[in-house]
Amino acid sequence: MATIAWLGSACHRRALPEIAVAAAAPPPPAGKAQGALEVVLRAGQGEVQLDPAGGPVARVWRFDGKLISGASDALATSTSYLGPTFRAKRGQRVRVQFQNDLAEPSIVHWHGLQVSEENDGHPRLAVGPGGVYRYDFTVENRPGTYWYHPHPDQRTGPQVYAGLAGAFVIVDPDDGARGLPAGPRDLSLIIQDRSLGSDGQLVYAPNQMMGFLGDRIFVNGRQTPDVTVDGGSYRLRVINGSNARIYKLAFNDNRRMTVIGSDGGLLGAPVRKPYVVLAPGERVELWADFGRSPAGKEVWLESRAFQAGGGMMMGMGGMGRMGGMGGMGGAPGLANGAPFRVCRFLVRGPGRTLPVPARFEPLSFRPDQEVVNRGRPRQIAVSMAMMRWQLNGGSFQMTEVADNERVKLGTTEDWEFQNLGGMMAMAHPLHLHGGQFQVLERQVAPAWQAVAGSLQEGLVDEGWKDTFLLLPGERVRLRMRFERYPGLFLYHCHNLEHEDAGMMRNFLIEA
Ligand code: C2O
Ligand code: CU
Repeated sequence: MATIAWLGSACHRRALPEIAVAAAAPPPPAGKAQGALEVVLRAGQGEVQLDPAGGPVARVWRFDGKLISGASDALATSTSYLGPTFRAKRGQRVRVQFQNDLAEPSIVHWHGLQVSEENDGHPRLAVGPGGVYRYDFTVENRPGTYWYHPHPDQRTGPQVYAGLAGAFVIVDPDDGARGLPAGPRDLSLIIQDRSLGSDGQLVYAPNQMMGFLGDRIFVNGRQTPDVTVDGGSYRLRVINGSNARIYKLAFNDNRRMTVIGSDGGLLGAPVRKPYVVLAPGERVELWADFGRSPAGKEVWLESRAFQAGGGMMMGMGGMGRMGGMGGMGGAPGLANGAPFRVCRFLVRGPGRTLPVPARFEPLSFRPDQEVVNRGRPRQIAVSMAMMRWQLNGGSFQMTEVADNERVKLGTTEDWEFQNLGGMMAMAHPLHLHGGQFQVLERQVAPAWQAVAGSLQEGLVDEGWKDTFLLLPGERVRLRMRFERYPGLFLYHCHNLEHEDAGMMRNFLIEA
């Protein structure tokens, strides 16, 4: 294993050939009407009422945003612990001054955005208490639903849990014209789980094996809220901002789920699934018609029962209470895979039902001929050592890069992730920085077919992705082009407790 030099010194840039349509592309020149979006984003302490039953306010950590320049709707403040929602356009320059008013180091990662390494929030860039970090990038990704959260070494889980996260939506001004529900019918839903103590405070009792699992479900910072809608069509941008919880989303009236987008924006065409699986870090865009529910009625978005593996660990449900490992997720009774309700849509009055478009713009994925390791994918295995999950046979070291973690700028590769860790195997949401990829294929070992079968039909592998769920006993092949920026990027488990315990590695894009 080699260690690369700290960055910030010699960073070579070279002109890149133009590539056809991809997940992100060199941005169009900024139009006259498109000024820069400039924001001061401060992470600090706050207080929020979290318990709907009242009681003392909870101490949280939150991002507060101040719009310095940009359209008045470019930064929407949250009324709970979540950070402001950014609404940027493709090609727009974004400048963010991150101000760390926490008592510990932090740094912000723009999850899913293709940005240069100095804008990517790698833990080595974390700034200490009172520190400032300046981001300056241009939005290159396709319009879609992205998000941002802290990324300091070993402290991402607790910081996100304390409240530090927000949505980053790349808006497409043409969406209304192409028949998509827009304006008040375009809703973002950030789903998270939390546990509250009897004093109303957040309780963070993670488990290194399973991750943190809370016993209360929050949407946009409110516990199992009611969302008032009319009887029309809606676009629901759902973000799984949970530390470790996987959702198997369905409506309680058993309608099929109409998926129109995934991590990297709209799909080529809507797809229908019996339910939709959303792992930590993933996003999905749903088309929901509430017109079929008579006015005055309610529809529940719920998460259904499934198996996430970790069979042996799950079987040790009593262990936490006996003290050894800080509780099975800190909360009795809500394992990963337990069913529960997420939020309720209250249908109030008639609305306009729009026809679901038959297709959107076609996506052109990277062709076989372009893949430099076609038929010989880079193999990255999930393993465990000393009760800690690992990737590629190792744990995170700040700047360490293994020989098989070096790729060339301007190439396209296939990678195969393997989760064949025997009895203990569990589902891991894996995320790659540095761009969007395509999920090529999945293969589940026969012994794991029954477990995988409880989630398989709801996996959204369509479209451009930056996070995917690797099931126990499974191999997943991805195709990714290292297109724009050289430098040191991360790939890791987005179970944040796994990430913090070292289930994260660097990869180096060499110019
Ligand atoms: Cu959403 Cu590297 O993280
Ligand atoms: Cu993991």
